[in-house]
Amino acid sequence: MTAELAKGIHWVGYVDWGVRDFHGYVTHRGATYNSYLIQDEKTALIDTVKGPYAANLLKHITDLTDLAKIDYVVCNHGEPDHSSALPAVMAALPQATLLCSKKALDSLGAYYDTSSWKMQVVGTGDSVSLGKRTLAFLETPMVHWPDSMMTYVPEEKILFSMDGFGQHVASNGRFDDENSLATILEEARIYYANIVTPYSGKVAETLQAAAGLDIGMIAPSHGVIWRSHIADILKAYRNWSQVKPKKKVLVVFDSMWGSTAKMAEAIVEGASTVPGVEVKLIAIRTSDFTEIATEMLESAAIAFGSSTLNRDMLPMAAAVLTYARGLRFPDRATFAFGSYGWGVGGPEALDKGLKECKWEVIREPLKSKFKPTDKVLDECREAGHQLANRAAAISAGAGYEPLMID
Ligand code: FEO
Repeated sequence: MTAELAKGIHWVGYVDWGVRDFHGYVTHRGATYNSYLIQDEKTALIDTVKGPYAANLLKHITDLTDLAKIDYVVCNHGEPDHSSALPAVMAALPQATLLCSKKALDSLGAYYDTSSWKMQVVGTGDSVSLGKRTLAFLETPMVHWPDSMMTYVPEEKILFSMDGFGQHVASNGRFDDENSLATILEEARIYYANIVTPYSGKVAETLQAAAGLDIGMIAPSHGVIWRSHIADILKAYRNWSQVKPKKKVLVVFDSMWGSTAKMAEAIVEGASTVPGVEVKLIAIRTSDFTEIATEMLESAAIAFGSSTLNRDMLPMAAAVLTYARGLRFPDRATFAFGSYGWGVGGPEALDKGLKECKWEVIREPLKSKFKPTDKVLDECREAGHQLANRAAAISAGAGYEPLMID
């Protein structure tokens, strides 16, 4: 089923209700791949969908118009979740010209045989008239790939924002006001943490560039279209892209025989003695990368624990650390903790990894030989208290803007 954004502008994408693994990202609520059809004196298709759903996209288009009437296909980004239907689409629309950034020539050319496609490079400042409406292009490199761009239709005040402002959520409501605002903001937060975080500097630049546009609707390539809660999603993006963490401590750990778990609980107790600081405990074994990264996004401080195995940290702790390091959450206060027994090395390896994240390590690794004694647990409480004070100071300096989901 299609949905109308404005007269002659329709959503024609695909709702992927069943997907739960999006290259490792756990999509608890499914996903959508959004495509949009603009019918004017000329007709344009904005983005496509994942390859297996090309027929669904073409069916949605033929419900609205003749395929032979499509003049342009805009590819805002070459990642396969949006472009892998292109071979089928371009074969069905041989008359159409594909509009993309210069960088997208590389990504599309690497993935597909583009030799028979009519392609035209566009960039910031370029526009294409459809008649009454205009496609104006804004390159947004690294939001999410170097080839990324957004397409703006000034006459309708619609920004087709590609991955920016997206969320992985399957729903029959195409618009923000047809969904729970709490759910879609939470999904936008999960999406930002797991996909967009490393490019926050570029997002901040994009927000600045977009500030000059009169925006009445933001139509991303995943999830719902923002039309009633634009201020909410823009505020959230300011927090996340400008590194404004909350007064929040995350304690994340993996434990072999419960000693590191006991230390984690004592750190939570100590952190909880600082008024106004939110504290969250996550056991890696019963969580997933997606949830942990989401909690890291808004935590000003992170205590990270692991027992010792083979003179190193536990493998699942190492995997979480690798994921966090890649996401490059900036300016977090932290320390390592954990137990050891006959051999040493877990908390020390973690401490080294936290320094590689370029986080502010506030103390030496907090260690327990076998089961933590009362003295060690008191030290954990004290360290938790110190970390929470640091979280409060970092957040106060950053100027976090509260969201309606807080
Ligand atoms: Fe949704 Fe970067 O692709």
